[in-house]
Amino acid sequence: MSSTLSFTEMKEQLLEEISTAESIENLESIRVAILGKSGKLTTLLKSLGKMPPEERRERGQALNSLRVQITDAVTERRGLLEDRALDAQIESGKLDVTLMPTIPPQGSIHPVTQVTEEMIEIFARFGFEVAEGPEIENDWYNFTALNIPPEHPARAMHDSFYVKDHTVDHDMAPMVLRTHTSPVQIRAMQTSKPPIRIIAPGRTYRCDSDATHTPMFHQVEGLVIDKEINMGHLRWILAAFIKAFFGIEQVKTRFRPSYFPFTEPSAEMDIGCSWSEGKLNIGQGNDWLEILGCGMVNPRVLEHAGLDSSSWQGFAFGCGIDRLAMLKYGMTDLRAFFNADLHWLRHHGFSMLDLPNLTHGGTL
Ligand code: DAH
Repeated sequence: MSSTLSFTEMKEQLLEEISTAESIENLESIRVAILGKSGKLTTLLKSLGKMPPEERRERGQALNSLRVQITDAVTERRGLLEDRALDAQIESGKLDVTLMPTIPPQGSIHPVTQVTEEMIEIFARFGFEVAEGPEIENDWYNFTALNIPPEHPARAMHDSFYVKDHTVDHDMAPMVLRTHTSPVQIRAMQTSKPPIRIIAPGRTYRCDSDATHTPMFHQVEGLVIDKEINMGHLRWILAAFIKAFFGIEQVKTRFRPSYFPFTEPSAEMDIGCSWSEGKLNIGQGNDWLEILGCGMVNPRVLEHAGLDSSSWQGFAFGCGIDRLAMLKYGMTDLRAFFNADLHWLRHHGFSMLDLPNLTHGGTL
């Protein structure tokens, strides 16, 4: 402080310095330079002792009141700087959740997931709900309840994976990795009152491996139970599904008589197709593609599931999801589905933001 400054000028200069401090650290060093042990004001206060009493009283009052003013000014400025710092911190931490990501989404949706979602979407339009069942299934649900009793030759058709040393609470043992999604039919009939309209997509297992078979694969089961459901309904709904799924206006279908223990009568459905320049056209043509198995639910199955077969009847169908994915999206080797090969997944995968719906790709 220059001695040439008047007291008032000195005061204004100090208060000005405080009120223009730009940061809390800056303010603190100003404070120390004024009020610290060897600060300007402290030095002046110390020098009071050497003054004559008259002058000392007057000067002392003025310096003390200045000290109070300066302390108040520092407190005020600190509060303001702290508020400012907080505002800046809030501002810099703001997240706009509506902003598009700057990194494009990584990964893709597997064709099996995509096709499963497409099927769920289509059947939902017909009022079907999604049902689920365990993948490690009870022998009774997987076979016996579906009219495949022990020693039945149909058991040999399924190369089952039995779960070793695994018994359950009652005589339904042993446990098996479900060989098809059909046991979900039984569980659905046991847990919900008819009328019933469900599809049950999921993983299934058989001890089999070549270009068109993998030990784990996917099926979708369909079940409709009502009073007057017949094969006409079955045929109509399957054709409607195929049209929507492949996005085609017309589809030729044919039912071939077949045998499944859980349906009576049973059929296999083929859809018309043709090949031109190595490309498969689905819907019309003189060739046939086998698509699924189906039939009217065998009354014995209804009874096993606890339904009165004189009041209720219905149809069921079961179909390979992987095969439908191959047909729709043009893959040739089923094993590639499960190799976790990134090139394959990038090529055949779907954008995770591109949810299946019927406004593109399908017609209903
Ligand atoms: N469960 C049969 C299989 O895995 C497929 C099947 C055929 C399911 C006919 C059905 C059906 O519901 O009615 O080969």
